[in-house]
Amino acid sequence: MERYNIAIDGPSAAGKSTISKQLAKNLGMTHLDTGAMYRCLALKAIRQGISQQNEKDLVKCLNETEIRLESDRVFLDGEEVTKIIREPEVSIGASNISKWAKVRQEMVARQQFLAKEKGFIMDGRDIGTVVLPDAKLKIFLVASVKARAKRRFLEEQQKNSSITLEEVVKAMEERDRQDETRSASPLKQARDAVRIDCSDMTIEEVVEKVCSYL
Ligand code: C5P
Repeated sequence: MERYNIAIDGPSAAGKSTISKQLAKNLGMTHLDTGAMYRCLALKAIRQGISQQNEKDLVKCLNETEIRLESDRVFLDGEEVTKIIREPEVSIGASNISKWAKVRQEMVARQQFLAKEKGFIMDGRDIGTVVLPDAKLKIFLVASVKARAKRRFLEEQQKNSSITLEEVVKAMEERDRQDETRSASPLKQARDAVRIDCSDMTIEEVVEKVCSYL
């Protein structure tokens, strides 16, 4: 059987992880959430009081860090951090530290090493452009600010968070602006990626649409 990789990129809360997970299940592939890796480094930096502006210290910290992604669970130096890395402070922290070229270089090397056996659905911001330029299929998943904010807001409510819809929109827009304007591998659609606007689509419809390109 042919083994290949699929790249899924797009802004925050566009549904990349949900779609990737479902696709991986349907196609018998492995999902790899690269955002979780940046989140792990951000969490460790916060805990250790490392400045998010200090590239050198962040790289040193990353070189001494083990990040393990195991289906739906994330481990940082052996500790399960699946839930805590979704906290708003870690989200913006991940965006802050991901602007550094040397941090990205190490993350990309780890991701490429993991994906070299093929059979992966990787989601992130630079998968189609940098990490897996030869992926069999590249998807750029977008949705309106309204649709994305609504989804993120519902997720937050399920966690009993007291964050308001306005705060969700503000945090999301700030993170996307940073991710799109940084100089090192900014979020952008790869030339050979298929753009899907899933604002008004169900998960099943998006999965079906992605599969139609395979
Ligand atoms: O995908 P997620 O929202 O979990 O990613 C958290 C942050 O990590 C993003 O806002 C982005 O700054 C960064 N990231 C990245 N490149 C990736 C994945 C995530 O820069 N491939």
